[in-house]
Amino acid sequence: MKKEKTVFVCQECGYSSPKWLGKCPSCGSWNSLVEEREIQERVRVSRKIVPKPIGDYIGESYERLKTGFLNLDQSLDGGLVPGQVLLLAGEPGIGKSTLLLQVCNFFSKLYGKTFYISGEESPTQISMRAKRLGVDSENLFVYPETNLEEIVYLLEEERPSLLVVDSIQTLFSSALQSSPGSVAQVRECAFRLSEICKEGDIPLLLVGQVNKEGVVAGPKVLEHIVDTVLYFEGERFSFYRLVKVVKNRFGAGGNVAVFKMSSSGLEEVPEPSAFFLQERVHSPGSVLFSHTEGSKPVILEVQALTIQALYTTPQRRTQGFDVNRLALILAVLEKEGKIFTRDKDVFVNIVGGIRVEEPAVDLAVAMAVASSVKDKKIEDVLVLGEVGLSGEVRSVHSVEERLKEGLRFGFRRAIVPKGCHVELQGMDVLPVKHIREAIDILL
Ligand code: TYD
Ligand code: MG
Repeated sequence: MKKEKTVFVCQECGYSSPKWLGKCPSCGSWNSLVEEREIQERVRVSRKIVPKPIGDYIGESYERLKTGFLNLDQSLDGGLVPGQVLLLAGEPGIGKSTLLLQVCNFFSKLYGKTFYISGEESPTQISMRAKRLGVDSENLFVYPETNLEEIVYLLEEERPSLLVVDSIQTLFSSALQSSPGSVAQVRECAFRLSEICKEGDIPLLLVGQVNKEGVVAGPKVLEHIVDTVLYFEGERFSFYRLVKVVKNRFGAGGNVAVFKMSSSGLEEVPEPSAFFLQERVHSPGSVLFSHTEGSKPVILEVQALTIQALYTTPQRRTQGFDVNRLALILAVLEKEGKIFTRDKDVFVNIVGGIRVEEPAVDLAVAMAVASSVKDKKIEDVLVLGEVGLSGEVRSVHSVEERLKEGLRFGFRRAIVPKGCHVELQGMDVLPVKHIREAIDILL
């Protein structure tokens, strides 16, 4: 194939050069030049798009296509939308290919021809996995292909009802010189495929590999191109997996679907709250929290352990919670709550492998630490609230929904920020303004 002309463009200032340079001669940025296709002339679009009044769009409703997993459909606000482009990002070995093969199997039986493009595994490997998962659909077609132009050709010839690309980092366009997985390739391939799929109303699922250090070329660049970003999380050596909707142009973001990895693939966990609480041992340092970033809250257990420090600099370790945020909470606990931890090692863990980023969990973390320091149990109380630097308890969103989820599991008491106090039948809701009040009530 004839190579198209490419240029290297500085992502900071827009300087372009025919060759790659480590340092931009124009603005002095290092490593900022990325290969792009050169635009020869302005393309005139012949397709006529007529602007419509917004009212015409409001009436439009999307058909929602099922994935075969009820919890995943719910997290996606009902299922996949024709033409929706999704990115499933996650570390290697977490179960992305497994999940997608299961989705493909279900989808192709219901909606017809489904293409699974695999650049990572050979057909033998895929067939071995398919056997294990009981994948038997006659409408599921596997293509071991990594050339973008071949895939585009295929898509133009045949219109599948779903396209899965595992993974976007393995694809390459012959028009670019850079190697597969580079920013330029990943962006070009994702862009071309999503253009075609959008036009053909084909849902497109792209797998994005993420490594231990965080992100490689790919997912971060892709987040802007795709409609929906799903993060596949979980500890590799435990059997539960979480799919978190980080961004969604077709519904709410922040929803979580919980899965269990079994010998025959992923199974959905219909009641995540029950799942997270199932091994709970009621002891000092354990506090209940109702977490939500989307539409459905889950009840989580926050655990803290404090012990006499062995070294002069005490340790602070966390899992599922920001360690710097913990340092802040410990300072507030000392100054405003007279709970001292400077001679203690402090460990905080959000049970279940889930990462909580919302500050609404602050007060629960603070109470878990206080409970461990005092070696006193905290009864079954849901604790919600963001903690400010002067020990004030700040408002959080969706308090009612969070408490209702607690009520479903038989929890009858809750501590909430004064600013968002709600009355809820069957639950004793205690408003607090300051961290000290919470300590007085609970300990
Ligand atoms: P995989 O889907 O290959 O991960 P990814 O595509 O994200 O790299 O999943 C790999 C892991 O899942 C592997 O360690 C084995 C495990 N697994 C099961 O436990 N049960 C199963 O039925 C399958 C297919 C995989
Ligand atoms: Mg894989």
